[in-house]
Formats: sequence, C-alpha cells, structure tokens
Amino acid sequence: MTEHNFEQQALAQILFEQQFQRSAELVCHAPGRVNLIGDHTDYNDGFVLPAAINYGTSIAASTREDNLVKVYAHDCDQEINEFYLNEITFDEHKMWSNYVKGTLQVLMKEYPQIKGANLVVTGNVPQGAGLSSSASFEIAILKAFSQLYQLDLTGVNAALLGQQAENDFVGCNCGIMDQLISAMGQRSHVMLLDCKDLSFEDAPIPNDLTLFIVNSNVQRGLVDSEYNLRRQQCEQVARYFDVSALRDVSLAQLTSAKEHIEPVLFKRARHVISESDRVLVTLKALKNNDIATISMAMKESHISLRDDFEVTTKEIDGLVHIIDDVLGIDGGVRMTGGGFGGCVVALVPLVMVEQVENAVNSKYEKKFGLKPSIYNCYATQGAFR
Ligand code: GLA
Repeated sequence: MTEHNFEQQALAQILFEQQFQRSAELVCHAPGRVNLIGDHTDYNDGFVLPAAINYGTSIAASTREDNLVKVYAHDCDQEINEFYLNEITFDEHKMWSNYVKGTLQVLMKEYPQIKGANLVVTGNVPQGAGLSSSASFEIAILKAFSQLYQLDLTGVNAALLGQQAENDFVGCNCGIMDQLISAMGQRSHVMLLDCKDLSFEDAPIPNDLTLFIVNSNVQRGLVDSEYNLRRQQCEQVARYFDVSALRDVSLAQLTSAKEHIEPVLFKRARHVISESDRVLVTLKALKNNDIATISMAMKESHISLRDDFEVTTKEIDGLVHIIDDVLGIDGGVRMTGGGFGGCVVALVPLVMVEQVENAVNSKYEKKFGLKPSIYNCYATQGAFR
C-alpha cells in the first residue's frame, strides 16, 4: 500500500467516525488506472497494457444487522444515499449511487447471504477523465463487502462483477480492462491482459521512465452512445467474418475483404486489429528497454484512434502534439481510455519531465483556452493483489 493511499484511507476512517459515531470495522482502497496502449481492444477480446495508478477510491465500512446500505459519498457533494438490498432501483438523480447499487445487485446473485453496511467513500480519481473513477469505485465496494462478509471473491471475479454492474445496471457496455487492472494491478508494473481468456502478465516499467498523465479537461461521458456505437460497429464486422470477436480476424483477412465491408466499419476494425498487435510490440520493447519502438507504437496508436476509430478531440490531438514535439523518440505519448476528451498518457524519461511539463503549461491553454491538469503517476497495487 502506498503512503498516498494511507492518507486517503485515514481520511475515510475519520469521516466514518463523524458520520456514524463509531469506528469503521475496516477500510480498503481500489486504484484508478491508465492504459499505456491498447484502447478499444478489450471488448474485442484483444490485448491491453494498463497500469493501476496512485489515484483511487477508499471506503471505510461496517456491517449492519439489517439489509440497509447507507453510503456517505464525501466527494460527490457529501451526499448520503440509503437503500435496502432487496429494493434496488436505478437513481437518475444520484448517478454515483448506481455504482454501489449495481455492484451489490450483481454481488448478491453470487452471494445472497450478504447483509447491509454503513459506508463512507472518498476518492481522488478525476471523474469523467478516462482514468476509471467508476471501476475503482466498483472494485472498492466489492473489496469492502468481500472483507466485511468474508466472501471467497477473487480479483478476476470481482472484475467480472464490476463489469456486469456497468453493463447491466449503469448502461455502459464497457470491456473488462478497467475493473481487472483496478483489482489485480502490480506496483511499478504494467499488465499485459489477454481479454479473451483473462490471463495476465506483469511487466516492469523501466526505472528511468515515468507515467505522465495530462488531463485535457474536456469533459467526457462514457455512458455516451458513441462508446456503445463503436462496440456495435466492431461486433458487426466480427459477425461478417462469423467469429465471436475481432480478436479472431487478422489484418490480412480484413484487407482482403475490404470491398465487402462498409468503409467506416472497415476503419473501426483496422484500428482494433492493429492496436492489439501494437500492444504486443510495446510489451516486447518494454522488456528490451527499447524506447524508440515504444515511441513509434504509441504514435501509431494515437493516429489510429484519431483517424480510424475517431474517438479523439482537437484538444487531445493538440496535447499529444505538444508532448511529442519535446519527446521525439525518447518517450511515447497517446490518448488513453475511451476517448472523446479525457487524458493523454506519456512514458517520459525522468530527466525530461520538467521540459514536458513546461511545454504543456506554456502551450496548451494558450491554444485551447483550457487549463491542463498534470498528474505525475506511478503504478500501484490493485485491491485484490
Ligand atoms: C473504457 C472502458 C474500457 C475500454 C476503454 C477503451 O475505459 O471502460 O473497457 O474499452 O474505454 O480502451
């Protein structure tokens, strides 16, 4: 557990005492994530390469004798929400509460014995920035309940439940990446995750490089129809090839069928298939400390997300351009996450961090009229690791 998390967990404990006039039975933490490369590949059964980061959600919790769940969300306008486990309904007015409700509804299907709880939630993953504040919330809830009621819940199962809550209750057809890395990330490592069979491998981030994240502060909404539309388009191409997901289509197969596939669908599929390959190229280059190859793969990834998958914005493209100008082949930069705003991720040599920061601070706001937020991140431990 990092020092940073300790502070947040201590705050959760203090807030719990204020809310409930006694100490919490436990406090737990689940991290947000950044994806180094491999976007929009997870729901196509492809590869991704994310890291859990030192921004996350902490929950202080105690069991209850009844079925009531009482949640105080410190960073969602200090709102309180109460509901009975057997009377769960979607709340349009308190969006944050749906993550708790959805997660517990799916958890109860596997563990009907759980009872209510008093919960205090505090987190610092910027919301709507593409760093998985919602996955970290879901995984923190699952971790809290699994400890409160001694459930034999594994990290992979927790991830699947979190994803199911988003898909079936919240209404976003997301893949498995965010929940899985929040549950199973490893300190100082990125994770190669094969989204087809959910096997994973940790790969160390070289000591002289750091994860550098810049929030464009263009607000985005993942539940937005655009994300679900991209997923449908990919599934349409998979159906054309009569396979369950694009993972089972090669670039050569796709190219040879070009005239039979609508141009937009062709571009979407070309992104997914080439992006999954770039993940493996990046993993190998990371192991060989071959930063020039990583740089190239990240550049190609961004261009593909911009031109073929069409999920970037002019601000995100601008940020990537500003950072790429400084880094050249000594580091890599690209958009990260679902897109339509949010963050860019860069892999930056420690000796160049200041230079990159200066370039972002002096150029981004001038050009786009938005203040950037810079997060100097490190890879941290998942909640179930
Ligand atoms: C969001 C989803 C993930 C993944 C990314 C894009 O973060 O939650 O499952 O699809 O977008 O890579």
